[in-house]
Amino acid sequence: MCGIVGVLGNHEAAPILVEALKRLEYRGYDSAGIATVNRGELHRRRAVGKLVNLSDLLVHEPLAGKAGIGHTRWATHGAPSVSNAHPHRAGAVAVVHNGIIENYKELRAELLNCGLEFRTETDTETVALMTERYLQEGLAPADAAFKTLDQLEGAFALAFLFDGEEDLIVAARKGSPLAIGHGDGEMFVGSDAIALAPLTDRITYLEEGDRAVVTRAGAEIRNAHGDLVNRDTKTIQIDAAQVDKAGHKHFMAKEIAEQPHVIAEAIRHYLPVEEDTVRLPGEVDFSQVERLTMVACGTAYYACVTAKYWFEQIARLPVEVDIASEFRYREPPIPAKTLALFVSQSGETADTLAALRFCQEKADTILSVVNVPESSIARESDLALPIFAGPEIGVASTKAFTCQLTVLLALALKAACDRGHLSAEEMAEYATAIRGLPNVLSSALEQNEAIRQAAQKVSEARDVLFLGRGLMFPLALEGALKLKEISYIHAEAYASGELKHGPIALIDKNMPVVVLTPKDALFDKSVSNMQEVLARKGKVLMISDQDGINEAGDDVWCAIRMPRVKEALTPILYAIPAQLLAYHTAVAKGTDVDQPRNLAKSVTVE
Ligand code: F6R
Repeated sequence: MCGIVGVLGNHEAAPILVEALKRLEYRGYDSAGIATVNRGELHRRRAVGKLVNLSDLLVHEPLAGKAGIGHTRWATHGAPSVSNAHPHRAGAVAVVHNGIIENYKELRAELLNCGLEFRTETDTETVALMTERYLQEGLAPADAAFKTLDQLEGAFALAFLFDGEEDLIVAARKGSPLAIGHGDGEMFVGSDAIALAPLTDRITYLEEGDRAVVTRAGAEIRNAHGDLVNRDTKTIQIDAAQVDKAGHKHFMAKEIAEQPHVIAEAIRHYLPVEEDTVRLPGEVDFSQVERLTMVACGTAYYACVTAKYWFEQIARLPVEVDIASEFRYREPPIPAKTLALFVSQSGETADTLAALRFCQEKADTILSVVNVPESSIARESDLALPIFAGPEIGVASTKAFTCQLTVLLALALKAACDRGHLSAEEMAEYATAIRGLPNVLSSALEQNEAIRQAAQKVSEARDVLFLGRGLMFPLALEGALKLKEISYIHAEAYASGELKHGPIALIDKNMPVVVLTPKDALFDKSVSNMQEVLARKGKVLMISDQDGINEAGDDVWCAIRMPRVKEALTPILYAIPAQLLAYHTAVAKGTDVDQPRNLAKSVTVE
């Protein structure tokens, strides 16, 4: 949701900014721009669409200067256009912004009253115009930026660059993440540490409300009250190779293929080999918990819906699952002894964070399952459980989903043990099965070619249905989301038993129906629903194990064979064919797999 970057370097800033923006492009790709100060003069270049358009522009109209800021945009206020692209400039200041200035209409009205003119439809231009007004009144650049910041409401990360100032960036964080990177005689600012990874591994994360005056000598940080504060500088480990496609055509293909490896890492942390118990990075005791509330968005929400089955069936714990944007405004009562759990890959999703804050005073314990341990959701939880997926760059979530599931399953087993619903032998059985997952996922990945062939056929469809029962129902929802977001084919998912209550009217000879049905306790029921589709000439793509296919796969359009695993583990395994089907369908359709239209990776606006 917009990426921002800033450089006070010893080399030309423009190529460094563009490279850093490449690593942030997953956050938005509606337009991009940079501004630099050269010989005291502020200049900028902006282009609509992907970053490559900005790079092309810079070939013809280069920008010199060793100090600069850059932005990649996911449009909120105002259509993607050059005039709405960041950096926004007013007189002697240029501003890049991630987030939303909620009171921009009032501020804009005030500025209009003072006779100032707006040239864009964005909320960000207000920030630039206000700062310029304070500069005109004689305030020093940092003071002008601070006085502006005092009046802003909403969630934002901002970086300011000034005409005549080649050694100054003002950076601020309120609600959207911002990292400061320390180099040797150079300083950097970025929306995340990934953007800065090849430039420096020494990172200071700004806290809520912090403002920083950054010069090549370092960063002077003040908190929301204006007091000087010390924030830790951490050495972070992001290997540049982790944000590389490693020979794959797309990040999504790489991230699907990485799953056996990253899940093994998560298992190593939560189920260490020497023990047959679940190890968490902090104390959680489920014995006194009476209700679990899980909240998330999108794919992370489907991970929660899956986990509901585990917590209820294995740990006998009542569970409520909700979409964050609904939960926060519904203001549900939170009974005593509730444990609230928030799941988020980025750890910055605005709705999930707001839902967490809503629960802060009400729930007994706030847990989160995140991929970014320094994220806002992780910091504001009593305990954050990292998923160890590594940076996920493809906009469609894949490895984060299966790692979230792995951690949630471990947590459900811990809850079951704490609540006396799992014997030591049963726990050991689960541990053995989970430790076998990396191998099982590797054999599922061997079905890549069979799935690619099925995807060729699916790519010709206009609509696709996904069906699943029990643990396969949330996975059907996730499979449909994956397909629609990257192939733009309309896809819906239903609990198989719901088919006859309406959706069956959609079935005809043109409708591919993906049936996710391992040979589990619900297999016979699931097959009956599949027969109802076949009887109406629907084209069934059956995903099952060898026994399931032998028993019921005769008349299907195509069958994809999965290995057999313990029933509780099937959602983690069957995620692989669902992801590969979406991936190959999108490739067959020629869509932009890693950066599908209208989407952004980290959704830091409501
Ligand atoms: C879909 C997808 C999104 C995210 C959702 C929540 O492939 O990636 O649906 O799952 O935007 O994001 P996080 O997990 O960062 O809170």
